[in-house]
This record gives sequence, structure tokens and C-alpha cells, in this order.
Amino acid sequence: MKNTILVAGATGNLGEKICRELIKRGATVRAIVRNESEPAKVEALQKLGVSIIKANFADASHLEATCSDISCVVSALAGLHDVIVTAQSQLLNAAVQAGVPRFIPSDFCTDYTQLSEGDNRNFDLRKTFKNLVDNSAIKPTSIFNGAFSYVLQYGIPLFNPKDHTIAYYEGKQDWKIDFTTLDDTAAFTAAAALDDETPRYLRIASFQVSPHDLASLSQQLYGEAFRLVNSGTMEQFSAYNQKLRAENPEGEKELYPRWQQAQYLYSMFAAHHTGLDNNRYPDLSWSSANEALQQI
Ligand SMILES: NC(=O)c1ccc[n+]([C@@H]2O[C@H](COP(=O)([O-])OP(=O)(O)OC[C@H]3O[C@@H](n4cnc5c(N)ncnc54)[C@H](OP(=O)(O)O)[C@@H]3O)[C@@H](O)[C@H]2O)c1
Repeated sequence: MKNTILVAGATGNLGEKICRELIKRGATVRAIVRNESEPAKVEALQKLGVSIIKANFADASHLEATCSDISCVVSALAGLHDVIVTAQSQLLNAAVQAGVPRFIPSDFCTDYTQLSEGDNRNFDLRKTFKNLVDNSAIKPTSIFNGAFSYVLQYGIPLFNPKDHTIAYYEGKQDWKIDFTTLDDTAAFTAAAALDDETPRYLRIASFQVSPHDLASLSQQLYGEAFRLVNSGTMEQFSAYNQKLRAENPEGEKELYPRWQQAQYLYSMFAAHHTGLDNNRYPDLSWSSANEALQQI
């Protein structure tokens, strides 16, 4: 029983990598997929050695049977309320009914316990699920990895290779921001899924860099230090995000509307890790900021 892990969201970017890392560690992996899941992604999982279960999350008895003899459920689902709260709750209830001892929810984000309601809509959904899982007969472990490092490749204001600028907020030039690669997150999650002694929260980062650090890195990589741009106070940023959200209600139905992206940037500057659990599994290695930026 110890090594049988059920992965939901296994066809996703992170979920597939978690399955790969679990198999590497000798685990037996079961994945729940949907009728709508892309066949090529399902086939790729099968090739890895993952057992595929096609399930409808609303079918409680089938979901419960899928959870039998599982030592830990890992959720890497992505979506809005219907997924992070509704589908994950259906999975949680099935796991509890089947007597699964542990559950890793699809958090994989900045430490939202440091943030207020309304700061980040997608994190508020995770907080709603946190309340449900914390009141269930199962041991939850959330993994906080900050931002995935690939977001640095998107030309976000924090690191904008097009304009050669780095945005920061007042007094935050040296504020360290947590970044983790998808691969490092997946490897750590697989190790945590197979570790019965995990605490409620695990905090990781491949690297932690401030706007000042990013300026030095741009000097090393491009021979020119990008210009630091003071983008105002955090209070102004928060007010701007609230206004942007109120003016764009259609974004409530989208996973990553523009105002949500701004909320992610706000979260990076509002919460960070003061201690890391990176060394919990000594066989893991961590990517550097240099490596991540070289991929741009
Ligand atoms: N920290 C960061 O910077 C950062 C960035 C991106 C993502 N994340 C987080 O990482 C986690 C994984 O994200 P990802 O980018 O790997 O997601 P992804 O590639 O979009 O994959 C999403 C997965 O969820 C499944 N799914 C979607 N809607 C579903 C539904 N209604 N019912 C059942 N399954 C459903 C998909 O299955 P199908 O194949 O069947 O559609 C797929 O397996 C999420 O928690 C996400 O928020 C964090």
C-alpha cells in the first residue's frame, strides 16, 4: 500500500512530470483521466507505466473504488471553482471514504497563508479547499513552490527582456521572490507523496531572487543591467488590481485573465518563504536562476 499513488491532473504539465518522478522512485502510479482528456497525453502516461482509470468525478462510488489501496492522492488539477473546489472535493470525499491516509492538494503556488482574501482569486479558491481538507479525516500536505520559473520567460513586468526593465514596488528592491522549475517541483512532490511523515506545509524554491539580483543576472547574461523601475507602493498596486478586476467581470470565468496575472505579480511581492524544505530529500538537486534565465 505504501507506494501506490493516485494522481489527478496527470495529463497536465505538472501532473505528467509528477507521474514520471513517482515511477522513477519505484512507486505504483494510478492516474484518473476524463473522457475529454487528450488521447496522446493518456497514451504517454501509459508508456511511462501509469495505470489509467477513466473516471467521472461526479460518480462517487467509482471514484471511491479508484481510491482503494492508495497511500496518497496527489492532485495537480488546474481550473476555477468547478475544479479546485468542486472536483477536488469529490476526489477528497472519495479518498476519505476509501480510507486513503494522505492528500496533496493542487496548491503549487506562493504561500497563500500569508495573503489576505481578495489578494489573489486563484489562491482564494485554494483557501476554500484548504478549509475542507483541514476538516476531513485525511492528512493533507500543501507544497508551496512560489512561481514556476518559466513565468520569467513571458516578458512579465518583473523581468522584461524586450524593454530591458525590471519592475519593483516601493522598498522591495531586495525582496526575494521564490521561483521553482516544473521539474524540481515534480521531483519534490513525488518524494513527498512517498513520505508518510510530511508536515502540513512544505516550502521549496529552486532559487530566490530579488529585483536587484535580477538586474545583476541581466548584466551577466546580456552584458547590460536592466533598468529597475519603481512601480509604486504595494497599496497602490493592490488598489489597481481591485479596479482592474471590477472593470473586467468577464475574467471571473477565465483562469488567467489580465487582472489575475497582476494578482500573481502582487502575490510574489507580498509573500515569500523565510525558510525552505529543499533539503528534506537529499537526493534532489535544484536549478539555478542562471539556468532558468538562459532559457529565455
Ligand atoms: N506557481 C505557478 O507559477 C504555477 C503556474 C502554473 C500552474 N500552477 C499550478 O500547478 C498546478 C498544475 O497546473 P498545470 O499548469 O500543470 O495544469 P494543466 O497543464 O492545465 O493541467 C490541468 C490538469 O487538470 C485537469 N482538469 C482540468 N479541468 C478538469 C476537470 N473539470 N475535471 C477533472 N480534471 C480536470 C486536466 O485534465 P484534462 O487533460 O482531462 O483536461 C489536466 O490534467 C495547478 O495547481 C496550477 O494552478 C502554478
